[in-house]
Amino acid sequence: MYSIIGETVKALILAGGFATRLRPLSCSRPKTLFPIVNKPLLQWIFERLVHDGVDEAILAVNALTQFYIRQQKPPKCGLRVHFSIDPHKSPLGTAGPIRKAEKLLGHNEPFIVLNGDIFADIDYKKLIETHKKTNALATIALCRVEDPSRFGVVELCEGDCIKRFIEKPPKGQAPSNLINAGAYVLSPEVFGLIPEGRAVSIEREIFPQIVEAGRLVGCRINGLWMDIGKPAEYLEANKLLLDSISPTISKPQTSSAEIRLPVALDQGVVLGENSVIGPYAVIGKNVKIGKNVTITNSVVFSDAEIADDVQLHGVVVGEGAYIGRHANIGYGCIIADQAKVRENIYLRDGSTVCPAKEISENIL
Ligand code: GDD
Ligand code: MG
Repeated sequence: MYSIIGETVKALILAGGFATRLRPLSCSRPKTLFPIVNKPLLQWIFERLVHDGVDEAILAVNALTQFYIRQQKPPKCGLRVHFSIDPHKSPLGTAGPIRKAEKLLGHNEPFIVLNGDIFADIDYKKLIETHKKTNALATIALCRVEDPSRFGVVELCEGDCIKRFIEKPPKGQAPSNLINAGAYVLSPEVFGLIPEGRAVSIEREIFPQIVEAGRLVGCRINGLWMDIGKPAEYLEANKLLLDSISPTISKPQTSSAEIRLPVALDQGVVLGENSVIGPYAVIGKNVKIGKNVTITNSVVFSDAEIADDVQLHGVVVGEGAYIGRHANIGYGCIIADQAKVRENIYLRDGSTVCPAKEISENIL
C-alpha cells in the first residue's frame, strides 16, 4: 500500500461495452460483474486499485450497466466511486468517456484508465512511477501473448518508448507479441487530444497521435493477465485463479460428495450423494446440486440448481438457472441466467440457452 501525501490518485474504469462475444451470459449482466471464483470482476479490480494506493474510481458505463452495478452493489473496498454515463444510444468508445469525465478526473495529476474486462495482476504503482520518470503523455501496461492479433500491439524502440501502436493487426502481421494489457496512465494534456461529444477510440485515434509526439511509453507486466472476452477465456480465468490460490484452498467438509481440488464452493452450497465436484469447479452461493452429479472445469453462478444424474464439463450455468434430472449437457454449453433445461434433454456441445428460456426439446 502506498500513498503520496496530498495527491488523490484516480482511476477511470471503462465498462460500457456490450460484450457481444459473451452472449447470452452478457445479455443479463455486464462483463465487469461476471464472477471470477465467486467474486465479481469489478471487486477484484477495486481491491487491486486500493492495494496500489488509488483513492477514487470513476465507472464509465452505459445506463444499463450502471443499473446492474447499483443492483449488485459490489463492495467498494474503501474507494470513492462515481459513475460517468455515456449518452443514451451513443456509446463514446474507449477515449470519449475519458473526455467526458474530464472534470471528475481533474487536471492536477496523471490518472489511471483501465478496461473493466481484464483480470490482471497489474502493478499500478509501478505504472505511475514509470509514467512520471519518462515524462510520457501516456504509459501503457504491456504483456506478452501467443496470438496478438486480437489486441493492440506495440513495437518498442530503446528505452521502452513505443514507436508503433497497431490495433488488431491481421493475423501474422503483428510487429511483436507485446500487447496493450488494457491499463494506462495518462497525463491531463491527453484531454486536449480527444474530440468532445462523439465516439473516439483511444487505440485507433489517440495513441497514434501520442506516438507521433514520441511520448507513448510501455511498461511490461509479468503477473497473471486475462481478457475475459469469450466464454472459453472466462472459464480459463477462473481456472488460472483456482490454480494460483489452490495452496490456500482447504477441502470443504462434506460427507455426501467427493471434492477434487482445486474447487471453490461459496456459502450455502448443497451437495447430493455420490456427486463428484472438480477439479476446476466454481460453485456460487446457495447452489443446489443433486445426486450423482459430476462437475469439472465449469462455473455455476449463485442460486442455480442442478438435479440428479447430470454431468457438466466446460459449462457455464447462469444465476438461478435450472438443469433437470438426467439432462445431457454437451461440452462448452452456456446456460444463461434463469434459464431452465428440462429433464432428459440433450444439448449438443457448445449450445447456448438465452436468459429465462425454457428448453423442452433436444438441441441436436
Ligand atoms: N463507457 C464505455 N463506452 N466503455 C466502453 C465502450 C463505450 O462505448 N466500448 C468499450 N468499452 C469498454 C469495454 O466495456 C471494455 O471494458 C473496454 O472498454 C475495452 O473494450 P473491448 O471491446 O473489450 O475491447 P477489446 O478487448 O476488443 O480490446 C481492448 O482491450 C485489449 C486488452 O484486453 C483494446 O484496448 C486492445 O488494444 C487491448 O489489447
Ligand atoms: Mg476486452
